[in-house]
Amino acid sequence: MNVYKFSDDLRVVHNEKLVILASEESRAWIKISDECFDILNKVLEMNLNHSEILECFELESDKVYFDNLLKNLYEINVLKNKDDENSRKIESLYLILTDRCNLACTHCCANAPDLTAEDELDTEAMYEIIDKMVQLNPSSITISGGEPLVRPDIWIIMEYLKSKFDGKIDIMTNGLLINEDNINNIKKYFNSVSISIDGVDEESCKIIRGNNVFKNVIKKVEFLKANNFNKISLSAVLPNNENVRREFEKLNKNLGTKSAIRHFSHQGRAGENHKKIAEHMNKYLRDRNMEEKNIIDWKAYISTDKRDIRTGACGGCESTLSIGSDGEIYPCNLLMDSNYSIGNILEINDIVSYINNMKIDSNKGYKAFIDLKQCNNNKCIDCSVKSFCWSCPAECDDFLGKEDIFEDRCDQVKSKLMSVVWG
Ligand SMILES: C[S@@+](CC[C@H](N)C(=O)[O-])C[C@H]1O[C@@H](n2cnc3c(N)ncnc32)[C@H](O)[C@@H]1O
Ligand code: SF4
Ligand code: SF4
Repeated sequence: MNVYKFSDDLRVVHNEKLVILASEESRAWIKISDECFDILNKVLEMNLNHSEILECFELESDKVYFDNLLKNLYEINVLKNKDDENSRKIESLYLILTDRCNLACTHCCANAPDLTAEDELDTEAMYEIIDKMVQLNPSSITISGGEPLVRPDIWIIMEYLKSKFDGKIDIMTNGLLINEDNINNIKKYFNSVSISIDGVDEESCKIIRGNNVFKNVIKKVEFLKANNFNKISLSAVLPNNENVRREFEKLNKNLGTKSAIRHFSHQGRAGENHKKIAEHMNKYLRDRNMEEKNIIDWKAYISTDKRDIRTGACGGCESTLSIGSDGEIYPCNLLMDSNYSIGNILEINDIVSYINNMKIDSNKGYKAFIDLKQCNNNKCIDCSVKSFCWSCPAECDDFLGKEDIFEDRCDQVKSKLMSVVWG
């Protein structure tokens, strides 16, 4: 019979005499009285199994209540069996082949281009990184950058990867370097190609990607299709307006591509340029008599619909990892900041046990990530809706650096969440 323990990813928030217990794994939550929470803590400390716990109660009604509570908490992963293994399963890995780029987008979260070819890891080091990535047995590996196609040895590296890994391999690219010389390699090595276009026409694309990029990207999409490569998605950070979003969907429909609209991240160069980008996007909307909404406005991202109020969502360090061009390992491709590096893959001998046994008391980057994810920053630490406020830790990290936006968002989100969660 089960001896329970609290799950490692349990989130607990108190408000007056109530407590919310939430699981990041299932994203579900249960509200109980603090009295019940105290009892639960005591019986778990006593290492009792399910029926022994129920025997602690005299009243039949208490037995029934705790029987149901234990079953529910177990079902939503707040409780686990004491002998459950805590092994992580990394499903998706990102590999940043280079930080160099042939473009210099105004919003670039990767700050590309900021390297010269001499600075970056050589082919042999990339082989070593791949050997270790493959040991983690992911389902998919995404190649990204900077611009991965600027690496002259990309096809040798891809051949090596393909020989070691039979899962899904995708690439994120600005598309401009796709040509007659590499089309066969693209078809041979990639299951899908994600091309960034960041606009619905030359004017909107130019705000981020520069002159003439829009028409050239469209040509590359047509070129891929003419060569019978059809697994293409087009990604974009867009001016914050429904009409523009619809235009983007239409563009994808016409091209036969999949659309991926991205949230604007304030990481990297976007941190310095976000105000200028927002001004240009607003001008774009104004010139077309469309309603202006700020792209850096928090309202673009938050939902307070009760159905959307769930805890967690982030697979960082649990199901996904991103490997930087220097071998540093990060929780995900949106949080590639040295504060959150959990180690360098080239310096780790047994990567599988390193990832499986990673703990906050022995890994500074992992602790910083968990603190970020659990909102243990000085603004949110005591907040009774913190488990529901941020679904993406990278977004929280972005906003923490922007005092004015942070406070504006906090004021409005907090009152809404308080009434939905505790009201
Ligand atoms: C860093 S790029 C690397 C791959 C390639 N050079 C490209 O542009 O697609 C990976 C993805 O991040 C997106 N990206 C870059 N900066 C961003 C930001 N500030 N906010 C949201 N997405 C961003 C790019 O548009 C691209 O889709
Ligand atoms: S977003 Fe991609 S294409 Fe643009 S500068 Fe960054 S790495 Fe280069
Ligand atoms: S409501 Fe405000 S204090 Fe609470 S978690 Fe969100 S941002 Fe932090």
